[in-house]
Amino acid sequence: MQFFIDTANLDQIQEAQDLGILDGVTTNPSLMFKEGISGEQKILDHYLKICEIVDGDVSAEVIATDFDGIIKEGQALAELHEQIVVKVPMVKDGLKAIRWFADNDIPTNCTLIFSPGQALLAAKAGATYVSPFIGRLDDVSTDGLQLISDIRLIFDNYLFDTEILAASARHPMHIIECAKRGADVVTAPLSAMLALLNHPLTDKGLEQFLADHAKGNK
Ligand code: G3P
Repeated sequence: MQFFIDTANLDQIQEAQDLGILDGVTTNPSLMFKEGISGEQKILDHYLKICEIVDGDVSAEVIATDFDGIIKEGQALAELHEQIVVKVPMVKDGLKAIRWFADNDIPTNCTLIFSPGQALLAAKAGATYVSPFIGRLDDVSTDGLQLISDIRLIFDNYLFDTEILAASARHPMHIIECAKRGADVVTAPLSAMLALLNHPLTDKGLEQFLADHAKGNK
């Protein structure tokens, strides 16, 4: 399973990259706003800075919701850097745009997926990734992880190449469950990735090893 970090924060992207576990980055307009990145040129420059840190795919979201606008913005993003994946919302014109991008060899990430039917449509249109938002489904008392399993089953039934990019993952168990259910990628905050490191028996065991080594090497 690939690990993407879900942030536009350069320090956190660098920290995940330095851990040696990072395969890519996902951003969205809310995450860019959180970092205070605004204005067309500054946004494009920020994507370039992200591409300089990581080797893998970097999702950059369009703001337009009409076909012509999505194509124009998506082309500009794709021309910016070869690592850019154009993130397109799951709306009717977005679907048409995903088909156009696929026909023109531009990779896409279809975002705001909340149902198996939406994922199926995006895969039919040729999306490179679909992004089911598991945490936001959990927020409304719906099983977000079940959506990952449902999409996995559908994509495997028909051998779709589209990759399942589990998004809105917020804690370590989301990551582990996504791995068990066969998500191709999980995108999560750095805090959720770092939480996978921890186990009290690791701490206790290490403390004992170091104490015994110290006793034997006085
Ligand atoms: O990748 C989508 C993600 O940023 C949404 O996460 O926590 O805002 O639901 P969240």
